[in-house]
Amino acid sequence: MAIRHKHDVVIVGSGLAGLRAAVEAAGRCDVALVSKVFPTRSHSGAAQGGIAASLGNEEPDSWEWHMFDTVKGGDYLTDQDAAEVLARDAPRAIYELEHMGVPFNRNPDGTIAQRAFGGHTRNFGEAPVKRACYAADRTGRVILDTLYGQSVQKGIRVYPELSVMDLVVTDGAVRGVVAYEWATGELHLFHAKAVLVATGGFGKVFKTTSNCFANTGDGAHMVFRHGFPLQDMEFIQFHPTGIYGLGVLISEAARGEGGILRNRDGERFMERYAPTIKDLAARDVVSRAIMSEVREGRGIGGRDFVHLDLTHLGKDRLEERLSDISSFVRIYLGIDPATQPIPVQPTCHYMMGGIPTDVDGRVLDAAGNPVPGLYAAGECACVSVHGANRLGCNSLLDLVVFGRRTGRRILEDVSDLSFTEAGGEALEACRERIGRLKERRSGERAARLRQRMQQEMMEHCGVYRTARGLEKALGLIRGLQEECRTRLVLDYKGDRYNTDLMEALELESLLGLAEVMLLAAQKRTESRGAHYREDFPERDDAAWLCHSLVYRDGDRVRYATRPVSITRFQPKPRVY
Ligand code: FUM
Repeated sequence: MAIRHKHDVVIVGSGLAGLRAAVEAAGRCDVALVSKVFPTRSHSGAAQGGIAASLGNEEPDSWEWHMFDTVKGGDYLTDQDAAEVLARDAPRAIYELEHMGVPFNRNPDGTIAQRAFGGHTRNFGEAPVKRACYAADRTGRVILDTLYGQSVQKGIRVYPELSVMDLVVTDGAVRGVVAYEWATGELHLFHAKAVLVATGGFGKVFKTTSNCFANTGDGAHMVFRHGFPLQDMEFIQFHPTGIYGLGVLISEAARGEGGILRNRDGERFMERYAPTIKDLAARDVVSRAIMSEVREGRGIGGRDFVHLDLTHLGKDRLEERLSDISSFVRIYLGIDPATQPIPVQPTCHYMMGGIPTDVDGRVLDAAGNPVPGLYAAGECACVSVHGANRLGCNSLLDLVVFGRRTGRRILEDVSDLSFTEAGGEALEACRERIGRLKERRSGERAARLRQRMQQEMMEHCGVYRTARGLEKALGLIRGLQEECRTRLVLDYKGDRYNTDLMEALELESLLGLAEVMLLAAQKRTESRGAHYREDFPERDDAAWLCHSLVYRDGDRVRYATRPVSITRFQPKPRVY
């Protein structure tokens, strides 16, 4: 037995992309949000520093400069038609959020305040520009709360604490999902005309990450299992300033407000790596610079971290603009950032790759055709506006711009789509998957397998990669997948909040995605953006100015490429 539901649209995931799409579509069709966590606990709420838009409230700015920075930041792998949509629509998106009630920081004249962020420049790279709109260092939090409020106002039905386990696919079209309810252990079958996957990132593949526990890539892996491709999965962003040893994010806004990275000699080392914009270079550049300092023995005390120095900013500015991170530092490290530098190291932060879509959120199959009834938005999607490396503050923007566009597109499409009664097979497969896990009496626990995966991925698929390391990691991940299939055991076999089961299901997704990342990273024999191959240190436009696709074809995993859209900016060497 399963609990059955029928909604025109099922949105899987209730972070900013899912909520924004839901708010757009609600009222004109029946929308349901199905989410592993309660909406206001989504990881979007952890976004700190800001949301980019060329409002020009502090100094002159233009959407063309924003588009250029996004393309250059992405090391020219960004699809320029999509980057244009993003940059042009940004100011409208900010004013829309303002009208919904987002409490942005203000200038004395009442305009929305803006600050500098990595890779955002004026006049095509001349100097940093203040483009990030913010609410102290809790920008994601206030936007999430505001959009959740909008969703309540619109009466959108929320099914919280349900994990979506599978898509219902008939005749190549997506017609619903099967979900598992954590409170009761019951399966739910949702019939829908359209399904939007908005399940966020999957930083939990790595040992050190700024991502929350829920970021396990369930949605992306579910789509992959059905033979639909994942795109650009080798491009994984390591944010330069995670709290040492913990990975908790110290916002780039800290550098936007004037913070400086220093090595063991107290040197402002970014002057050597990015002479023009220094500490505000793009994230891949800054993370590699930190790792180089560490490798060359200039980490603090010769160890594997550097210092982020905010001491010159003064207590009042820290309290006003960076209060959350100041409190994280006090709580986790027992350090007062007003008087002591913060130990930081790169932390896995964001996936540039994901489920390929067009600029209206329609999922594209391996041949580039839209999959009827299937949409994706947010970090799990790859539009691709971030190319090989995302700029800070473009993520929140991506969520609201493409979340809204996807909601609109679904509204246009839904009258041509239909319900089916199908889903019995998918339901049975999910029941069997859970049954198999619960039946096993002895074996290995998910936590131990996960630890091994995270350690290996950190070592061999992190900031630096080599053919040997990737090969070794791929062998280990495949071994872990086999262990997962044959030995994974649950201690608790009950139905109520079975977090053992949750970890087991999530691990299957994480391992599947780790394999795809490694395969894509192995294939790309060049260095571009966040993908740095020590054995191929140069960008190679002749061979690799293309997106990668990895997809399943029966039991085989296939690799393909597709062209990048280049409309305004020809690839150039990337210097900051
Ligand atoms: O550093 C930050 O506040 C992160 C922002 C982002 O990833 O966009």
